Amino acid sequence: MKARRRVVTASGAAVPAKRRPTVRRIKPAIVPVTRRDGPTGGQLTGHAAGATSVRATGPAEGPSPAAAPIHEVDLGVDLGRGLVLRNPVLVASGTFGYGIEYGDVVDVQRLGAICCKGTTLRARSGNPTPRVTETPGGMLNSIGLQNPGVDAVVEKYASTWAGWQVPVIVNVAGESIADYVEVVRRLEGVPGIAGIELNISCPNVGKGGLQFAIDAEAAGAVTAAVRRATDLPLLVKLSPNVADVRPIARAIEDAGADALTAINTLSGIAVGPTRERPLLGNVFGGLSGPAIKPVALKVVYEVAQTVDIPIVGIGGVTELADVLDFLAVGAVAVQVGTAIFADPTLPVRLIDELGAECRRRGLDSHRALIGTALPKRATATSARGAEYRP
Ligand SMILES: Cc1cc2nc3c(=O)[nH]c(=O)nc-3n(C[C@H](O)[C@H](O)[C@H](O)COP(=O)(O)O)c2cc1C
Repeated sequence: MKARRRVVTASGAAVPAKRRPTVRRIKPAIVPVTRRDGPTGGQLTGHAAGATSVRATGPAEGPSPAAAPIHEVDLGVDLGRGLVLRNPVLVASGTFGYGIEYGDVVDVQRLGAICCKGTTLRARSGNPTPRVTETPGGMLNSIGLQNPGVDAVVEKYASTWAGWQVPVIVNVAGESIADYVEVVRRLEGVPGIAGIELNISCPNVGKGGLQFAIDAEAAGAVTAAVRRATDLPLLVKLSPNVADVRPIARAIEDAGADALTAINTLSGIAVGPTRERPLLGNVFGGLSGPAIKPVALKVVYEVAQTVDIPIVGIGGVTELADVLDFLAVGAVAVQVGTAIFADPTLPVRLIDELGAECRRRGLDSHRALIGTALPKRATATSARGAEYRP
């Protein structure tokens, strides 16, 4: 239910607003205009979705509804290679299943995009339990990339995705470059798959278990190999578990990625109740949720000054202020992850709130909000990466 509009007087007391009997607002102020720029048919052929305009009428107290100015807000986002999202709010891999699971709760078609669970060449049953635990301001998980394998993902979900207007980006994981390339080959040309997000926070068997994500050379090599294997839009997901993310981001851009997503979880552990061993079955887990937002903002801030490709910010988004913060440090869009477990309706609500915020500021597009907190002049590159001085 909407709160009654209230007016704050000069004395600070809140009183109910006076009603103007000639103006009856039946429709909500924010009306999503679907497919204004997009295809009129049901399916987006995996690559393009028209930009969403959030259509917002003018001030509620205007002279008459017919004469009220119409203020369109364009929330569209171009992630490159034809992947144009209708709005900048995506759902993060591992927190929204394959999208289908949430169909009864959320209008998934309204989302900017869905990043599905990490997909590997063969099925994986995941790590031993316990796999998740709550932490202050977040959670720790060690799911272990449980998934049915790429062929089963294509067979089970792709035909449904092909009928959706929301683009589905398949999150891909592997333990060798050959793994990644083979998964991507099997996704190439499949209707319903709009793009690839590479999860490179995986142990690289070729480098003795060193993660692809923490080594610029390995990150560049896996990106380049996947780039050669597919024409699909390619997003690569950065890990925060590095001293300096910028050379890694640069190597990924040079290798042909269309966009970066940042960040994946932070490595952590929890201790078991008897204190005889760590709590998670796999010992190590990935920290996510509001606790990691400052780290994610830092990564986006640094990377936005390093690369020219678009960056999608992820980490602890729970409200509109978080979205605005990520945009301010240079992200063109955000992903919502852990917060979905508490409220699956949050991402769609954020789309409406962002549209309303743009309208409140008199903006035609959220693009004016991007990069406002970045240095006005390029700062000198640091050899140390993190500019943290205690
Ligand atoms: C339960 C769980 C499973 C996840 N699985 C994946 C995954 O399969 N692939 C991936 O790239 N990221 C995965 N992530 C990381 C999220 O996509 C996201 O990067 C991270 O949680 C930070 O965002 P948040 O703080 O909004 O959750 C997972 C996160 C959680 C909490």
